[in-house]
Amino acid sequence: MKPFRLTEFLGKMEPNSVAIFPSAHEVRRNQDTDFEFRQETDFYYLTRLNEPDCVAVLAPNHPEHKYVLFVRPRKREEEIWTGIRAGVEGAIRDFGADAAYDIAELDRILPKYLQNVHTLYHRFGQNAEFDQKVFGTIKHIRGKVRGGVYAPTTIIDPITIVHEMRLRKNEDDLNSLRRAAAISAEGHVAAMQHCKPGMYEYELEAVVEYVFRKRGAAGVGYPSIVGAGFNSTILHYNTNQCQISDGDVVLIDAGAEYNLFSGDITRTFPANGKFTKAQQAIYEVVLNANKEVIKMVKPGESFMKLHEHSIDVVTQGLIDIGLLTGSVKDNVAAKAYEKFFMHKTGHWLGMDVHDVGRYKLDDDWRTLEPGMVFTVEPGVYIAAGAEHVPEEFFNIGVRIEDDVVVTETGCEVLTTGVPKEPQEIEAMMKESPKAII
Ligand code: GLY
Ligand code: MN
Ligand code: MN
Repeated sequence: MKPFRLTEFLGKMEPNSVAIFPSAHEVRRNQDTDFEFRQETDFYYLTRLNEPDCVAVLAPNHPEHKYVLFVRPRKREEEIWTGIRAGVEGAIRDFGADAAYDIAELDRILPKYLQNVHTLYHRFGQNAEFDQKVFGTIKHIRGKVRGGVYAPTTIIDPITIVHEMRLRKNEDDLNSLRRAAAISAEGHVAAMQHCKPGMYEYELEAVVEYVFRKRGAAGVGYPSIVGAGFNSTILHYNTNQCQISDGDVVLIDAGAEYNLFSGDITRTFPANGKFTKAQQAIYEVVLNANKEVIKMVKPGESFMKLHEHSIDVVTQGLIDIGLLTGSVKDNVAAKAYEKFFMHKTGHWLGMDVHDVGRYKLDDDWRTLEPGMVFTVEPGVYIAAGAEHVPEEFFNIGVRIEDDVVVTETGCEVLTTGVPKEPQEIEAMMKESPKAII
């Protein structure tokens, strides 16, 4: 049977059109060692086939071959090194293709599916080598014009269909996301409970990622960020190499990948288990914004309004603790908050951590619909030496990030498995750590 999403995609295509989706390739890391393979997300979403060097062709008007797969053939001498493949037979039998070919046949066979088709769906600009193949195929078909054959004249980016589908999660997607988020939360809890001043950031990274794998995640959805002290103020710090000092805050941004869906959680906690007054003051500004934004989430709300409200709450908080002066309105107009809060409050979340889907439709910011999933992650970052900031606030970076699903009436928070109230964090850090092995 064809995968459900693929059938849905076929139903949304233009009349007399064909879509092509290349899979990911293996990418060389060094000498003869490859990076860990990660399937191209649109390809996996549509086909569920997790192998490199494949191409899917969707041809809704073809009398028999509406779904064609080009795959690596089964070859014992290669499978002995890199594992069993679906092969041409498996592509039909297990993955629902109407026809399948050896990928080595692509140049010879692809023109047969693209000739006399008006519209081609292909995402140019992702894979230069594959783009050249597509150009070459079109050129080849154009060369046959006197034989009454024509090449596609309209090219559409398939994301117009597939990324809109990916933006709205179905119940299966949500179950994978729930699991990814629950495992991510367990990893964060373990890191909080195992943290001690004197440890290295990479030790906490190891704890978090150990829990991810132990609980069945494939690994991380993105490189884990574990930053203590000054490093907590670096937004995408992920070298995780420094020693954690007494009195540091530790910011961990880490998410497990499960069924190719990613969790995305940030928590910030005191290395020694007790927030200083300054740390707690900043923490509460961010927590307030996080909670206020989550309360606003419901169908019909504008995605941008969430960010604007988050800015207002953070700005008011920074005024209250004396880091900004004047009115919220003036500080917001002057973007004074950007010195402390320089990123957006959230992003779509799904099979890619920064998931796909447009944020604006024409000139308007998108409004929320049930099934959309995104992060809520306000932050405040103050590096040592920040101008006009008292020293007790130096080297405090706080981000609090949760994952939410828009429901019919509001939202479901997927990341409640790890505490975010400062008292709860302190209490949990006092407990003996739960066994993780
Ligand atoms: N972990 C990347 C982000 O939070 O956007
Ligand atoms: Mn994150
Ligand atoms: Mn995020």
